[in-house]
Amino acid sequence: MEELERIVESSKLKEEDRIENSLRPQSLSDFIGQGKLKNNLKVFIEAAKNRKESLDHCLFYAPPGLGKTTLSHIIAKEMGTNLRMTSGPVLERVGDLAAILTNLSEGDVFFIDEIHRMNHLVEESLYPAMEDFELDIIIGQGPSAKTIKLPIPRFTLIGATTRAGLLSNPLRDRFGIVEHLEFYNLQDLILIVNRSASIMNIEIDQNASEEIARRSRGTPRIVNRLLKRVRDFAQIKGGKITKDIAQIALNALSVDIAGLDKMDRLILSTLVDKFGGGPVGVDTIAVAMCEEPDTITDVYEPYLIQSGFIARTPRGRIVTEAGYKHIGKEPFKNLQKELL
Ligand SMILES: Nc1ncnc2c1ncn2[C@@H]1O[C@H](COP(=O)(O)OP(=O)(O)OP(=O)(O)O)[C@@H](O)[C@H]1O
Ligand SMILES: [Mg+2]
Repeated sequence: MEELERIVESSKLKEEDRIENSLRPQSLSDFIGQGKLKNNLKVFIEAAKNRKESLDHCLFYAPPGLGKTTLSHIIAKEMGTNLRMTSGPVLERVGDLAAILTNLSEGDVFFIDEIHRMNHLVEESLYPAMEDFELDIIIGQGPSAKTIKLPIPRFTLIGATTRAGLLSNPLRDRFGIVEHLEFYNLQDLILIVNRSASIMNIEIDQNASEEIARRSRGTPRIVNRLLKRVRDFAQIKGGKITKDIAQIALNALSVDIAGLDKMDRLILSTLVDKFGGGPVGVDTIAVAMCEEPDTITDVYEPYLIQSGFIARTPRGRIVTEAGYKHIGKEPFKNLQKELL
């Protein structure tokens, strides 16, 4: 199953870099949704600029595809500074980090993606850099080893993570701005469909925008991907994306009205048919689906829970009434009530 790319995968698929960059909002006013976060950032950026200081370090945590990388580009642009990007697993040694930090200019934005995957030695050497804008360099070995403090330019660290729970407390505490990005609501998703369609020069009906928005799992990256695939269908049928064409295309791609794909529906029906709707432990689900338990919890389960089709109980996962209905089955009402 794993080599197959899912159309509703929220992580970036291969080859998506180029198109993502062309669709990426360039300023805060261009960034749709996330109103509270945007307002906060506007204030923080304005205030830092007035004081002629660098922006406080920011931590963004959210599931894939909601706009963390986009926000880091926007912040650098709004602050009028350079953006230097890397990711946690790439920073293997303290020296890798030191090389980047000593080459930054005053006020630069330094973006670390997947910051929860940073080696702990690198992480520890980041603390004095974040707090005092200096690096502790150890010279020599054993009892004669000495630490010298190397000053570095004042910079803004932006950390992005999909797994806030995996971040150590000392690291999290060193960020002045900690923000969570929410899944997007239908109105915002429709605006994103329309914005991307206009950039890609696609003609689209409003109810077709809504159809795509509804099936895109609250995630802008999936909006853009579905839009591109639906455009291919529209092109053959005359050009404009109508609701009919959107429905035909999305059904052909096996993305249903709630944005679930075949695998999501198979998980639901397996839980119902083989386990009476649960409760079932994740390990058992994984065996039944021939998947790793981590893949179930990280890839499939979040959206099924978010859309209310599966619930977590102390005894395991259960299919909710909405979950039963979604696959056209009748729930065992009493059992459900007892467990919830
Ligand atoms: N608020 C938004 N308005 C319009 N488009 C958006 C918005 N947020 C994200 N996008 C679109 O979604 C795409 C994915 O966003 P981005 O790369 O920032 O996600 P991410 O949170 O960094 O994901 P990952 O965790 O996989 O790195 C962008 O290319 C952009 O086109
Ligand atoms: Mg990203």
